[in-house]
Amino acid sequence: MTADELRVLDEPIASAGEHRALMSRFPTGVAVVTAADTVGRPHGMTCSSVASVTLCPPTILVCLRVGSATLRAVHEGGAFAVNLLDAEARATAELFSGPVPDRFARVRWIRSHAGLPWLVDDALAMAECRLSRVIPDGDHEVLFGRLLRVTEKPGTPLLYGMRSYSVWRPSSLAGSAGMEDMSA
Ligand SMILES: Cc1cc2nc3c(=O)[nH]c(=O)nc-3n(C[C@H](O)[C@H](O)[C@H](O)COP(=O)(O)O)c2cc1C
Repeated sequence: MTADELRVLDEPIASAGEHRALMSRFPTGVAVVTAADTVGRPHGMTCSSVASVTLCPPTILVCLRVGSATLRAVHEGGAFAVNLLDAEARATAELFSGPVPDRFARVRWIRSHAGLPWLVDDALAMAECRLSRVIPDGDHEVLFGRLLRVTEKPGTPLLYGMRSYSVWRPSSLAGSAGMEDMSA
């Protein structure tokens, strides 16, 4: 089949609602991406757009909304941290995606080795990343980060899918219902 026969160029672009419906059927972990601005103030926002890019060199990506204070701080500091949330940290996911002015006053956090905000109680794992590449596209920027250091602790991850939070439960414990819905 040729490109002409595919007629991809004639197709209208899907709506934002169709995009959301698609991605709601792709459950992910939940992270709070954090950064420090030029005066060291912490910024952070809830993100599910975390993906692995390459193992060598170790690289991940996140997509942040243009206009976000966290995105600005990532550019200022040239670095970001990815705090992968524990199953118990749903309130923190809501805090960092809601309209609360001083999010960091409501959680326990410390500065990581590289000086990035680390949600010590809520993060199941925390990755410190040096910003290595930025690709702006539409209303988001894709930020690539070289992994500098990874810190983990025992626990299970918080998940988000089908427009609700859930928790990871290994199938050997949970039978066929591997995810426990926490939306109620
Ligand atoms: C589960 C979940 C995942 C999200 N993932 C992203 C994401 O990957 N990128 C993004 O820009 N916003 C994402 N958001 C939305 C932001 O968290 C939200 O817009 C937040 O208010 C942004 O912080 P700001 O207002 O300080 O910019 C997500 C929200 C939720 C609840």
